[in-house]
Amino acid sequence: MRLAIASDHGGFALKGVLAASLRAAGHDVADHGPAAAERCDYPDFAGPVARAVSTGEADRGILVCGSGIGMSMAANKVPGIRAAVVQDLEHARLSREHNNANVLCLGERFTAPALAEAIVAVWLETGFGEGRHVGRVAKIHGLEG
Ligand code: RB5
Repeated sequence: MRLAIASDHGGFALKGVLAASLRAAGHDVADHGPAAAERCDYPDFAGPVARAVSTGEADRGILVCGSGIGMSMAANKVPGIRAAVVQDLEHARLSREHNNANVLCLGERFTAPALAEAIVAVWLETGFGEGRHVGRVAKIHGLEG
């Protein structure tokens, strides 16, 4: 899968762990930064990943900050993006089955690397549930603008 990934300083270490394991698993991972763990602003990195997904340059996006919250707020400002903050495997599954989430947001300060890797795996392999969820997701995008 073509994946776009980014973080801020609060998610920098976990971003590196995830990018390495995703590449090892055979995914095409585009790292949108930052290149070092210096203090920075999460919207500056959420934007490029959200736009890569929105334009189809990437199939899915993964964003990591301290909590995952700021990244999700920023990414969801980009039309076409359905970003979800996920802290456990069940929410990873639900964000895909019910909401067709196309950007996964993780919080390095709350999610250990092994759990984050497991969340990413479930999130990548779970499909959209279709059916009754299709119209609801369309209504999300009806709120844009
Ligand atoms: C940075 O201190 C922190 O605010 C950021 O990583 C993120 O958690 C924001 O939502």
